[in-house]
Amino acid sequence: MPTQNIPVIAIDGPSASGKGTVAQLVAKSLGFHYLDSGALYRLVALKATQTQTDISNIKKLAEIARNLEVIFSDNKIFLENNNVTDAIRTEECGILASNLASYPPVRVALTDRQRAFCQTPGLVTDGRDMGSVIFPNAALKIFLTASAEIRAQRRYKQLIEKGINANIAVLLQDIQKRDERDSNRQVAPLQQNTDAKLLDTTALSITQAQNAVLAWYSEACANIAFELKVKAP
Ligand code: DC
Repeated sequence: MPTQNIPVIAIDGPSASGKGTVAQLVAKSLGFHYLDSGALYRLVALKATQTQTDISNIKKLAEIARNLEVIFSDNKIFLENNNVTDAIRTEECGILASNLASYPPVRVALTDRQRAFCQTPGLVTDGRDMGSVIFPNAALKIFLTASAEIRAQRRYKQLIEKGINANIAVLLQDIQKRDERDSNRQVAPLQQNTDAKLLDTTALSITQAQNAVLAWYSEACANIAFELKVKAP
């Protein structure tokens, strides 16, 4: 279990909702660490592709997850010393990651690795099950979403900016399929839990979304401080 006294902000939500961008900005504002948990699933997918591992070989996929040699450094991701920051962002990698993320042994193999990111002064993390499974004691839990159409537009812009070819209708279809797969799987499905605040960013700018999270976090800190004061002898 994560260390109780270290504050965690868990931002969960569907694919291409902008949760990663918002989480990184919030982490920067607070001077907290940042974990992009989806990157770990994407790394397993990339390694599985590189090693031509069969997607139905759950045992081998879990082994890959357990033994990933990863370094996160200055917004870059290295797999076995190779810079794979862009390689893991392709749609193919995302779809494969979504598929193998439905296997419980793969999820279990990544659990401790994710919890190890919880270090002082705090952590902001994004994914699908950060608040429900990995950091159930998070100080603040958010379900960040946006309409599928807006998410497809955002993903399209992101890919084009990276020089990756994209088609908006295909992206929308992929996003809807991925939502369905991530939401309907048996283990740690994507869903808004009752203790998570809903942040719909369809009509919000990134700065507005960032400010909303920061305001909720200040509120959560004030509530914790008040409860501690009330409990104090
Ligand atoms: O956030 P992302 O699109 O980079 O994540 C890629 C896939 O990984 C996503 O479709 C589902 C899976 N994932 C997951 O199951 N649990 C997480 N905490 C993060 C990602």
